[in-house]
Amino acid sequence: MSGHVAAIIAAAGSGTRFGAQIPKALIQLGDRTLIEHAVAAISPTVDQVIVTAPATHLNQFQALLGSSVTVVVGGQTRSESIRSGLAAVSSDTKYILVHDAARALASNDLADRVLFALKNGEVAVIPGLHQIDTIKSVDEKGYVKSTPVRADLRNIQTPQGFEISVLKKAHATNGEGTDDAALVESIGYKVLVISGEERAIKITTPEDLATAYNFLGNNNKFLTGTGVDAHAFEVGRELWLGCINWPDEVGVAGHSDGDVAAHAICDSLFAATGLGDLGSNFGVDRPEYAGASGAKLLAETLTIISEAGFKISNVSVQVIGNRPKLAGRRKEAIAALSAALNGAPVSLLATTTDGLGLTGEGKGIAAIASALVFKVSSNDR
Ligand code: CTP
Ligand code: MG
Repeated sequence: MSGHVAAIIAAAGSGTRFGAQIPKALIQLGDRTLIEHAVAAISPTVDQVIVTAPATHLNQFQALLGSSVTVVVGGQTRSESIRSGLAAVSSDTKYILVHDAARALASNDLADRVLFALKNGEVAVIPGLHQIDTIKSVDEKGYVKSTPVRADLRNIQTPQGFEISVLKKAHATNGEGTDDAALVESIGYKVLVISGEERAIKITTPEDLATAYNFLGNNNKFLTGTGVDAHAFEVGRELWLGCINWPDEVGVAGHSDGDVAAHAICDSLFAATGLGDLGSNFGVDRPEYAGASGAKLLAETLTIISEAGFKISNVSVQVIGNRPKLAGRRKEAIAALSAALNGAPVSLLATTTDGLGLTGEGKGIAAIASALVFKVSSNDR
Protein backbone atom coordinates (compact mmCIF):
# COMPACT_ATOMS: atom_id res chain seq x y z
CA MET A 1 0.00 0.00 0.00
CA SER A 2 1.33 3.45 -0.81
CA GLY A 3 1.55 6.10 1.87
CA HIS A 4 -1.04 8.41 0.38
CA VAL A 5 -2.53 10.98 2.73
CA ALA A 6 -6.01 12.46 2.37
CA ALA A 7 -7.83 15.16 4.29
CA ILE A 8 -11.52 15.64 4.90
CA ILE A 9 -12.47 19.18 5.89
CA ALA A 10 -15.93 19.34 7.46
CA ALA A 11 -17.64 22.50 6.24
CA ALA A 12 -21.25 21.43 5.75
CA GLY A 13 -22.63 23.05 8.91
CA SER A 14 -24.88 26.07 8.75
CA GLY A 15 -23.26 27.97 11.60
CA THR A 16 -26.44 28.44 13.66
CA ARG A 17 -24.59 29.85 16.65
CA PHE A 18 -22.68 32.29 14.44
CA GLY A 19 -25.96 33.57 13.07
CA ALA A 20 -24.89 34.71 9.58
CA GLN A 21 -27.07 34.39 6.49
CA ILE A 22 -24.43 32.23 4.81
CA PRO A 23 -22.77 28.93 5.84
CA LYS A 24 -20.11 29.59 8.48
CA ALA A 25 -17.31 28.23 6.29
CA LEU A 26 -17.98 31.00 3.73
CA ILE A 27 -17.47 33.79 6.25
CA GLN A 28 -14.59 36.10 5.42
CA LEU A 29 -11.60 36.29 7.77
CA GLY A 30 -9.08 38.82 6.48
CA ASP A 31 -8.50 38.29 2.79
CA ARG A 32 -10.24 34.91 2.43
CA THR A 33 -13.06 32.72 3.70
CA LEU A 34 -12.74 30.24 6.58
CA ILE A 35 -12.81 27.25 4.22
CA GLU A 36 -10.08 28.79 2.05
CA HIS A 37 -7.90 29.28 5.14
CA ALA A 38 -8.45 25.66 6.18
CA VAL A 39 -7.72 24.27 2.71
CA ALA A 40 -4.58 26.40 2.35
CA ALA A 41 -3.22 25.19 5.70
CA ILE A 42 -3.82 21.49 5.13
CA SER A 43 -3.09 21.12 1.40
CA PRO A 44 0.73 21.07 1.60
CA THR A 45 0.60 18.05 3.95
CA VAL A 46 -1.78 15.83 1.97
CA ASP A 47 -2.26 14.32 -1.50
CA GLN A 48 -6.05 14.73 -1.67
CA VAL A 49 -8.38 17.30 -0.10
CA ILE A 50 -12.10 16.54 0.29
CA VAL A 51 -14.46 19.24 1.56
CA THR A 52 -17.98 18.55 2.77
CA ALA A 53 -20.32 21.41 1.85
CA PRO A 54 -24.00 22.23 2.40
CA ALA A 55 -26.03 20.95 -0.60
CA THR A 56 -27.33 24.50 -1.18
CA HIS A 57 -23.82 25.89 -1.72
CA LEU A 58 -22.03 23.01 -3.47
CA ASN A 59 -21.27 24.96 -6.64
CA GLN A 60 -20.13 28.03 -4.74
CA PHE A 61 -17.67 25.94 -2.71
CA GLN A 62 -16.35 24.19 -5.84
CA ALA A 63 -15.89 27.52 -7.67
CA LEU A 64 -14.10 29.01 -4.67
CA LEU A 65 -11.76 26.06 -4.05
CA GLY A 66 -10.97 25.04 -7.61
CA SER A 67 -10.77 21.65 -9.28
CA SER A 68 -7.90 20.30 -7.17
CA VAL A 69 -10.31 20.02 -4.21
CA THR A 70 -13.11 17.40 -4.18
CA VAL A 71 -16.31 18.95 -2.86
CA VAL A 72 -19.05 16.57 -1.66
CA VAL A 73 -22.43 17.18 -0.06
CA GLY A 74 -22.29 16.79 3.72
CA GLY A 75 -24.84 15.11 5.99
CA GLN A 76 -27.25 16.13 8.74
CA THR A 77 -24.61 15.81 11.44
CA ARG A 78 -20.87 16.30 11.49
CA SER A 79 -20.30 12.53 11.76
CA GLU A 80 -22.52 11.93 8.73
CA SER A 81 -20.60 14.59 6.84
CA ILE A 82 -17.33 12.80 7.60
CA ARG A 83 -18.85 9.56 6.26
CA SER A 84 -19.79 11.39 3.01
CA GLY A 85 -16.20 12.55 2.80
CA LEU A 86 -14.83 9.06 3.48
CA ALA A 87 -16.74 7.73 0.49
CA ALA A 88 -14.70 10.04 -1.76
CA VAL A 89 -11.25 9.12 -0.41
CA SER A 90 -8.99 7.56 -3.03
CA SER A 91 -8.38 3.82 -2.63
CA ASP A 92 -4.60 4.10 -2.17
CA THR A 93 -4.94 6.25 0.95
CA LYS A 94 -3.09 5.15 4.08
CA TYR A 95 -3.53 8.10 6.45
CA ILE A 96 -6.39 10.53 6.81
CA LEU A 97 -6.59 13.92 8.52
CA VAL A 98 -10.05 15.10 9.56
CA HIS A 99 -10.35 18.82 10.05
CA ASP A 100 -13.04 21.45 10.72
CA ALA A 101 -13.36 24.51 8.51
CA ALA A 102 -14.37 26.25 11.75
CA ARG A 103 -10.74 25.84 12.93
CA ALA A 104 -9.65 27.92 9.99
CA LEU A 105 -6.36 29.10 11.46
CA ALA A 106 -4.85 25.77 12.53
CA SER A 107 -1.38 25.93 10.99
CA ASN A 108 0.24 23.69 8.43
CA ASP A 109 2.79 22.80 11.09
CA LEU A 110 0.01 21.26 13.20
CA ALA A 111 -1.13 19.07 10.27
CA ASP A 112 2.51 18.04 9.73
CA ARG A 113 2.97 17.12 13.40
CA VAL A 114 -0.20 14.99 13.40
CA LEU A 115 0.95 13.15 10.28
CA PHE A 116 4.47 12.72 11.66
CA ALA A 117 3.10 10.90 14.72
CA LEU A 118 1.01 8.62 12.46
CA LYS A 119 4.06 7.80 10.38
CA ASN A 120 5.83 6.94 13.65
CA GLY A 121 3.33 4.14 14.22
CA GLU A 122 0.40 5.75 16.05
CA VAL A 123 -3.05 4.83 14.69
CA ALA A 124 -4.92 7.88 16.00
CA VAL A 125 -3.43 11.30 16.82
CA ILE A 126 -5.30 14.37 18.00
CA PRO A 127 -4.14 17.86 19.05
CA GLY A 128 -5.13 19.20 22.46
CA LEU A 129 -4.47 22.11 24.80
CA HIS A 130 -4.31 21.99 28.58
CA GLN A 131 -7.59 22.89 30.27
CA ILE A 132 -7.50 26.32 31.95
CA ASP A 133 -10.92 26.47 33.67
CA THR A 134 -12.04 23.80 36.11
CA ILE A 135 -14.58 21.47 34.48
CA LYS A 136 -17.65 20.18 36.36
CA SER A 137 -19.97 17.42 35.30
CA VAL A 138 -23.51 18.63 36.11
CA ASP A 139 -26.88 16.84 36.37
CA GLU A 140 -30.05 17.99 34.62
CA LYS A 141 -31.10 20.04 37.69
CA GLY A 142 -27.81 21.93 37.68
CA TYR A 143 -26.14 20.13 40.59
CA VAL A 144 -22.52 19.14 40.29
CA LYS A 145 -21.99 15.41 39.94
CA SER A 146 -18.21 15.39 39.89
CA THR A 147 -15.05 17.39 39.23
CA PRO A 148 -12.56 15.67 36.93
CA VAL A 149 -8.91 16.35 37.77
CA ARG A 150 -8.07 19.38 35.69
CA ALA A 151 -4.47 18.37 35.01
CA ASP A 152 -5.78 15.29 33.17
CA LEU A 153 -8.05 17.29 30.86
CA ARG A 154 -7.35 18.58 27.35
CA ASN A 155 -9.32 20.78 24.97
CA ILE A 156 -9.32 18.78 21.77
CA GLN A 157 -8.87 20.30 18.34
CA THR A 158 -8.52 19.28 14.71
CA PRO A 159 -6.91 18.18 12.41
CA GLN A 160 -7.22 14.68 13.87
CA GLY A 161 -5.18 11.99 12.11
CA PHE A 162 -5.95 8.30 11.69
CA GLU A 163 -4.88 5.25 9.82
CA ILE A 164 -7.61 5.14 7.20
CA SER A 165 -8.62 1.55 8.07
CA VAL A 166 -9.16 2.56 11.70
CA LEU A 167 -11.30 5.59 10.86
CA LYS A 168 -13.37 3.56 8.39
CA LYS A 169 -13.96 0.89 11.00
CA ALA A 170 -14.98 3.52 13.56
CA HIS A 171 -17.49 5.07 11.16
CA ALA A 172 -18.83 1.70 9.99
CA THR A 173 -20.94 1.69 13.17
CA ASN A 174 -22.70 4.86 11.89
CA GLY A 175 -22.03 6.30 15.33
CA GLU A 176 -22.29 9.94 16.34
CA GLY A 177 -19.58 11.89 18.13
CA THR A 178 -18.55 15.51 18.43
CA ASP A 179 -15.18 14.45 17.06
CA ASP A 180 -13.82 11.46 15.16
CA ALA A 181 -11.54 10.31 17.96
CA ALA A 182 -14.60 9.57 20.12
CA LEU A 183 -15.73 6.95 17.58
CA VAL A 184 -12.22 5.50 17.32
CA GLU A 185 -11.91 5.31 21.13
CA SER A 186 -15.27 3.56 21.35
CA ILE A 187 -13.98 0.63 19.31
CA GLY A 188 -10.92 0.28 21.53
CA TYR A 189 -8.03 1.95 19.71
CA LYS A 190 -5.39 4.02 21.52
CA VAL A 191 -5.60 7.71 20.70
CA LEU A 192 -2.54 9.90 21.29
CA VAL A 193 -2.94 13.57 22.22
CA ILE A 194 -0.16 15.85 20.96
CA SER A 195 0.12 19.55 21.73
CA GLY A 196 -2.39 21.71 19.93
CA GLU A 197 -2.36 25.38 19.04
CA GLU A 198 -4.05 28.48 20.48
CA ARG A 199 -4.70 29.70 16.94
CA ALA A 200 -6.64 26.53 16.09
CA ILE A 201 -9.65 27.88 18.06
CA LYS A 202 -13.04 26.80 16.80
CA ILE A 203 -14.79 29.83 15.35
CA THR A 204 -18.33 29.53 16.67
CA THR A 205 -19.58 33.08 17.35
CA PRO A 206 -18.78 36.52 15.88
CA GLU A 207 -16.62 37.18 18.96
CA ASP A 208 -14.46 34.19 18.00
CA LEU A 209 -13.94 35.74 14.58
CA ALA A 210 -12.46 38.83 16.25
CA THR A 211 -10.12 36.60 18.28
CA ALA A 212 -9.10 34.71 15.15
CA TYR A 213 -8.41 38.01 13.46
CA ASN A 214 -5.73 38.81 16.00
CA PHE A 215 -4.01 35.52 15.17
CA LEU A 216 -3.69 36.63 11.55
CA GLY A 217 -1.20 39.16 12.84
CA ASN A 218 -1.68 41.50 9.92
CA ASN A 219 -3.65 44.20 11.69
CA ASN A 220 -0.83 46.61 11.05
CA LYS A 221 -1.31 46.12 7.31
CA PHE A 222 -4.53 48.17 7.48
CA LEU A 223 -4.46 51.71 6.16
CA THR A 224 -7.10 54.40 6.24
CA GLY A 225 -7.70 57.48 4.09
CA THR A 226 -10.13 60.38 3.73
CA GLY A 227 -11.44 61.97 0.53
CA VAL A 228 -13.50 65.13 -0.02
CA ASP A 229 -15.24 66.47 -3.12
CA ALA A 230 -17.64 69.33 -3.86
CA HIS A 231 -19.30 70.60 -7.02
CA ALA A 232 -21.50 73.65 -7.65
CA PHE A 233 -24.97 73.22 -9.14
CA GLU A 234 -25.21 74.04 -12.85
CA VAL A 235 -28.62 74.32 -14.44
CA GLY A 236 -28.98 72.16 -17.54
CA ARG A 237 -26.70 69.34 -16.35
CA GLU A 238 -27.95 65.90 -15.33
CA LEU A 239 -27.40 64.96 -11.68
CA TRP A 240 -25.42 61.80 -10.89
CA LEU A 241 -24.87 61.01 -7.23
CA GLY A 242 -23.92 57.69 -5.66
CA CYS A 243 -23.61 56.15 -9.16
CA ILE A 244 -27.31 56.65 -9.83
CA ASN A 245 -29.13 59.24 -11.91
CA TRP A 246 -31.52 61.76 -10.29
CA PRO A 247 -33.84 62.80 -13.12
CA ASP A 248 -35.74 65.59 -11.32
CA GLU A 249 -32.71 67.30 -9.78
CA VAL A 250 -30.32 69.99 -10.99
CA GLY A 251 -26.90 68.66 -11.96
CA VAL A 252 -23.46 69.96 -11.04
CA ALA A 253 -20.53 71.41 -12.98
CA GLY A 254 -17.43 69.31 -13.51
CA HIS A 255 -14.88 67.64 -15.78
CA SER A 256 -16.57 64.26 -15.20
CA ASP A 257 -20.20 63.53 -14.33
CA GLY A 258 -19.76 65.40 -11.01
CA ASP A 259 -20.70 62.46 -8.76
CA VAL A 260 -19.27 63.82 -5.50
CA ALA A 261 -19.94 60.60 -3.55
CA ALA A 262 -18.03 58.45 -6.05
CA HIS A 263 -15.22 61.01 -6.31
CA ALA A 264 -14.81 61.33 -2.55
CA ILE A 265 -14.57 57.53 -2.30
CA CYS A 266 -11.94 57.43 -5.07
CA ASP A 267 -9.87 60.01 -3.20
CA SER A 268 -10.25 58.18 0.11
CA LEU A 269 -8.91 55.05 -1.59
CA PHE A 270 -6.00 56.94 -3.12
CA ALA A 271 -5.34 58.55 0.27
CA ALA A 272 -5.32 55.21 2.07
CA THR A 273 -2.99 53.61 -0.46
CA GLY A 274 -0.77 56.64 -1.11
CA LEU A 275 -1.32 56.36 -4.85
CA GLY A 276 -1.95 60.03 -5.68
CA ASP A 277 -5.42 61.49 -6.00
CA LEU A 278 -8.25 61.94 -8.48
CA GLY A 279 -6.47 64.81 -10.20
CA SER A 280 -3.16 63.00 -10.64
CA ASN A 281 -4.82 59.81 -11.85
CA PHE A 282 -7.75 61.08 -13.96
CA GLY A 283 -7.26 64.90 -14.14
CA VAL A 284 -7.99 67.38 -16.92
CA ASP A 285 -4.78 66.33 -18.68
CA ARG A 286 -6.48 62.94 -19.27
CA PRO A 287 -9.17 63.84 -21.86
CA GLU A 288 -10.36 60.23 -21.94
CA TYR A 289 -11.92 60.85 -18.52
CA ALA A 290 -13.93 63.92 -19.59
CA GLY A 291 -17.54 63.15 -18.67
CA ALA A 292 -16.51 59.82 -17.12
CA SER A 293 -19.13 58.30 -14.84
CA GLY A 294 -18.55 57.90 -11.11
CA ALA A 295 -18.86 54.14 -11.59
CA LYS A 296 -16.09 54.17 -14.19
CA LEU A 297 -13.77 56.19 -11.95
CA LEU A 298 -14.46 53.87 -9.00
CA ALA A 299 -13.75 50.81 -11.14
CA GLU A 300 -10.52 52.37 -12.47
CA THR A 301 -9.48 53.33 -8.93
CA LEU A 302 -10.11 49.76 -7.81
CA THR A 303 -7.91 48.49 -10.65
CA ILE A 304 -5.09 50.90 -9.71
CA ILE A 305 -5.11 50.00 -6.01
CA SER A 306 -5.52 46.26 -6.73
CA GLU A 307 -2.51 46.30 -9.03
CA ALA A 308 -0.54 47.87 -6.19
CA GLY A 309 -1.55 44.97 -3.90
CA PHE A 310 -4.39 46.52 -1.88
CA LYS A 311 -7.85 45.21 -1.06
CA ILE A 312 -10.77 47.22 0.29
CA SER A 313 -12.01 46.41 3.77
CA ASN A 314 -14.85 48.96 3.60
CA VAL A 315 -15.64 52.49 2.53
CA SER A 316 -18.11 55.00 3.91
CA VAL A 317 -19.25 58.26 2.39
CA GLN A 318 -21.37 61.10 3.71
CA VAL A 319 -23.08 63.46 1.27
CA ILE A 320 -23.54 67.06 2.44
CA GLY A 321 -26.19 69.21 0.81
CA ASN A 322 -29.80 70.34 0.91
CA ARG A 323 -30.72 68.39 -2.21
CA PRO A 324 -31.28 65.71 -3.35
CA LYS A 325 -32.90 63.86 -0.44
CA LEU A 326 -31.00 60.59 -0.35
CA ALA A 327 -33.06 58.61 2.13
CA GLY A 328 -35.54 57.08 -0.32
CA ARG A 329 -32.82 55.84 -2.70
CA ARG A 330 -30.04 55.10 -0.24
CA LYS A 331 -30.11 51.31 -0.80
CA GLU A 332 -30.07 51.75 -4.56
CA ALA A 333 -27.07 54.08 -4.39
CA ILE A 334 -25.20 51.80 -1.98
CA ALA A 335 -25.76 48.86 -4.32
CA ALA A 336 -24.50 50.88 -7.31
CA LEU A 337 -21.40 52.16 -5.46
CA SER A 338 -20.61 48.70 -4.14
CA ALA A 339 -21.07 47.12 -7.58
CA ALA A 340 -18.59 49.61 -9.06
CA LEU A 341 -16.09 48.47 -6.39
CA ASN A 342 -16.64 44.80 -7.18
CA GLY A 343 -18.81 44.16 -4.13
CA ALA A 344 -16.78 45.98 -1.46
CA PRO A 345 -18.85 46.98 1.60
CA VAL A 346 -20.09 50.57 1.25
CA SER A 347 -22.09 52.73 3.62
CA LEU A 348 -23.75 55.97 2.57
CA LEU A 349 -25.02 58.76 4.81
CA ALA A 350 -26.36 62.22 4.14
CA THR A 351 -26.68 65.43 6.07
CA THR A 352 -27.53 69.10 5.66
CA THR A 353 -25.47 71.70 7.49
CA ASP A 354 -28.20 73.89 8.94
CA GLY A 355 -27.80 76.56 6.28
CA LEU A 356 -24.17 77.11 7.24
CA GLY A 357 -20.91 76.87 5.25
CA LEU A 358 -19.88 74.19 2.78
CA THR A 359 -23.05 73.36 0.85
CA GLY A 360 -25.53 74.53 3.45
CA GLU A 361 -25.96 77.66 1.35
CA GLY A 362 -27.60 75.44 -1.26
CA LYS A 363 -25.09 76.20 -4.00
CA GLY A 364 -23.92 72.64 -4.58
CA ILE A 365 -23.23 69.21 -3.14
CA ALA A 366 -20.21 67.91 -1.23
CA ALA A 367 -19.16 64.52 0.09
CA ILE A 368 -16.61 63.23 2.58
CA ALA A 369 -15.50 59.62 2.40
CA SER A 370 -13.23 57.35 4.36
CA ALA A 371 -11.74 54.08 3.27
CA LEU A 372 -10.07 51.21 5.07
CA VAL A 373 -7.79 49.07 2.91
CA PHE A 374 -5.28 46.35 3.61
CA LYS A 375 -2.13 45.33 1.87
CA VAL A 376 -2.21 41.76 0.66
CA SER A 377 1.18 40.15 1.08
CA SER A 378 2.73 38.86 -2.13
CA ASN A 379 2.22 35.19 -1.22
CA ASP A 380 -1.49 35.81 -0.48
CA ARG A 381 -2.17 37.06 -4.00
N1 CTP B 1 -20.20 20.28 9.99
C1 CTP B 1 -20.44 19.48 8.88
N2 CTP B 1 -21.68 18.87 8.73
C2 CTP B 1 -22.66 19.06 9.65
C3 CTP B 1 -22.43 19.88 10.78
C4 CTP B 1 -21.18 20.49 10.93
O1 CTP B 1 -19.58 19.30 8.05
N3 CTP B 1 -23.85 18.48 9.45
C5 CTP B 1 -18.90 20.96 10.11
C6 CTP B 1 -19.03 22.47 10.24
O2 CTP B 1 -19.12 23.08 8.96
C7 CTP B 1 -17.80 22.87 11.00
C8 CTP B 1 -17.44 21.62 11.79
O3 CTP B 1 -18.26 20.56 11.29
O4 CTP B 1 -16.70 23.22 10.16
C9 CTP B 1 -17.65 21.81 13.29
O5 CTP B 1 -19.01 22.13 13.53
P1 CTP B 1 -19.52 23.47 14.20
O6 CTP B 1 -18.38 24.33 14.56
O7 CTP B 1 -20.55 23.10 15.20
O8 CTP B 1 -20.21 24.24 12.94
P2 CTP B 1 -21.74 24.37 12.60
O9 CTP B 1 -22.46 23.10 12.86
O10 CTP B 1 -21.82 24.94 11.23
O11 CTP B 1 -22.21 25.49 13.66
P3 CTP B 1 -23.49 25.45 14.63
O12 CTP B 1 -23.33 24.22 15.46
O13 CTP B 1 -23.38 26.73 15.38
O14 CTP B 1 -24.69 25.39 13.72
MG1 MG C 1 -22.57 22.25 14.91
